[in-house]
Amino acid sequence: MEPQKCTCATGEAPAGEGRLCHLAEREEQQLGCCLDGFLQAWRAADLPRALVAFAWFREAMNRHMRWEEESLFEEVEKRAAVPELRRVRAHHLQHEAIGTLADRIHESLERSLSIPAPADAALTADVAALESLVHAHRKLEHDEVCQHLDAVLEEPAVKEIESELEERGRI
Ligand SMILES: [Fe+2]
Ligand SMILES: [Fe+2]
Repeated sequence: MEPQKCTCATGEAPAGEGRLCHLAEREEQQLGCCLDGFLQAWRAADLPRALVAFAWFREAMNRHMRWEEESLFEEVEKRAAVPELRRVRAHHLQHEAIGTLADRIHESLERSLSIPAPADAALTADVAALESLVHAHRKLEHDEVCQHLDAVLEEPAVKEIESELEERGRI
């Protein structure tokens, strides 16, 4: 089956096919805004604001990844054929990498606040790595998983996941 076209992003979620993909993308956009808020503060060298923004992003991202692991992927894995499973495994690995980087950045930001330190090259490299990993992850998720959810999942699972995403509405 051809992957459905995704009309993602802002505005009203379409009814029927494509709705789940739209709702998932809306949540990804909210996470992207959280990350951008951190990056703005970071680039302005405003460490106190960067720490607050990062803590917010990290919490939202962890909650989102946990939901994907415990609800979304579990449903996909129960029903998916081999190619879809491979995509889901790539996701698990990226989630682990994002979680590890985010923990390290959070610790480094806290340390930078309490002990004034010269520009921290390792922290700068971690921030750049996280930014590109999150973008790559979002693209993988959109292109390789979300667009196939309607085809992989059965109707009751689609409805259940849609209503969870609708209820959350915002992070
Ligand atoms: Fe996601
Ligand atoms: Fe994910």
